[in-house]
Amino acid sequence: MSPVHGVAILGSTGSIGLSTLDVIARHPDRYRVRALVARASWRKIVEQALACRPDVVILTEPVAAAHAREALRAAGSPARVESGAEAVAAAVAAADVDTVMAAIVGAAGLMPTLAAVRAGKRVLLANKEALVMAGRLLIDEVRPAGAALIPIDSEHNAIFQCMPARYLPGEPAPGVTHVILTASGGPFRTTDPARLSRVTPDEACAHPKWKMGRKISVDSATLMNKGLEVIEATWLFGLPEAEVEVVVHPQSVVHSLVRYVDGSVLAQLGAPDMRTPIAQALAWPERIESGVAALDLAAVARLDFEAPDHARFPSLGLARAAARAGGTAPAVLNAANEVAVQAFLDGGLNFTAITTVIDEVLQRLESRAVRTLDDVLDADAAARRLAAATIETARGALV
Ligand SMILES: NC(=O)c1ccc[n+]([C@@H]2O[C@H](COP(=O)([O-])OP(=O)(O)OC[C@H]3O[C@@H](n4cnc5c(N)ncnc54)[C@H](OP(=O)(O)O)[C@@H]3O)[C@@H](O)[C@H]2O)c1
Repeated sequence: MSPVHGVAILGSTGSIGLSTLDVIARHPDRYRVRALVARASWRKIVEQALACRPDVVILTEPVAAAHAREALRAAGSPARVESGAEAVAAAVAAADVDTVMAAIVGAAGLMPTLAAVRAGKRVLLANKEALVMAGRLLIDEVRPAGAALIPIDSEHNAIFQCMPARYLPGEPAPGVTHVILTASGGPFRTTDPARLSRVTPDEACAHPKWKMGRKISVDSATLMNKGLEVIEATWLFGLPEAEVEVVVHPQSVVHSLVRYVDGSVLAQLGAPDMRTPIAQALAWPERIESGVAALDLAAVARLDFEAPDHARFPSLGLARAAARAGGTAPAVLNAANEVAVQAFLDGGLNFTAITTVIDEVLQRLESRAVRTLDDVLDADAAARRLAAATIETARGALV
């Protein structure tokens, strides 16, 4: 019988966190949740803690942590409730945790993901922003720490599954010439471009194929999600940006592909449900049941592919330019995007202006070399300040 794996779930109250708990609940003999981590959703995390009985619950917002502590004590739960970055780092490094689901959204996920890598855990990486910001630093820590990095993004997980057995994270795989990321095209693939500046946050978050958190849903609608994924792929698979292709595939059945030097193209297919990559990464190199229905190819009937429309979605081009520039440029892109997306979700920026703000910030902040984590964090902070100022200055024109 395989040993029981101790799992820490960072971002347990989010979309990926919920799917992870769903898969784990199907295999109580195989996985034991040791730690749940979120920001402020205390009611949800209390419910989760009562169901899966972790040792520790962490909310980074102290007031929310106090509410959770009180509620869990009243329900007779023995779980410790903590707050703060040190508590998160200690939870991922705990001796009885061997697997960490890194599913905090945005730049906030960088330090906890790095802590999990440094602690030598099996890190299931949903938090693509960590790799976009600090790809070289993060990848370089994996092997010396004895960690494993398994991508959860459905595209990168598909590529991981199509890689040759001798693939090592961050290194070009023998015989592989390109990887091909598929993109659904998001909710506005065929929308009249003249209407795009008037679309609402709810329309942007109504993804045709995937149910996801609001930030990544907006990223999918602008295609910035694909841009971040191009950068993520360069680090995971050791390829230059030009060798990471993107193709629009509206059915979201082919999750991505790998091109080999002999002309072969390998693809991974499945229903658009994140429980498949989560189960694959949890059990790798074994396979476990995920709760996802079998793919019915006759019902799918056809698979369409088309080139991305760069004029309609300039984000992808901005991300590719940031990948080529290297250094701090991807961290700047990521930070400006986070600020602009939040402003859009809050009603303070129109949809097409998200890209305008990112472009402006990228043009004004020169890319610098990344030697230390501080270089990344400084670039992140500068880009956030500049993005906020750009939005403030242009208020009215961009709403
Ligand atoms: N959803 C998908 O299908 C999908 C697919 C591929 C990749 N991803 C990636 O997975 C990550 C999570 O996406 P999601 O859709 O699950 O996001 P989500 O639904 O918005 O959930 C975000 C999670 O992160 C937590 N969080 C936010 N800020 C935090 C902080 N400062 N400290 C600790 N926890 C914090 C949230 O806690 P609260 O609830 O308390 O705010 C929540 O648990 C993102 O990087 C996304 O790009 C998602």
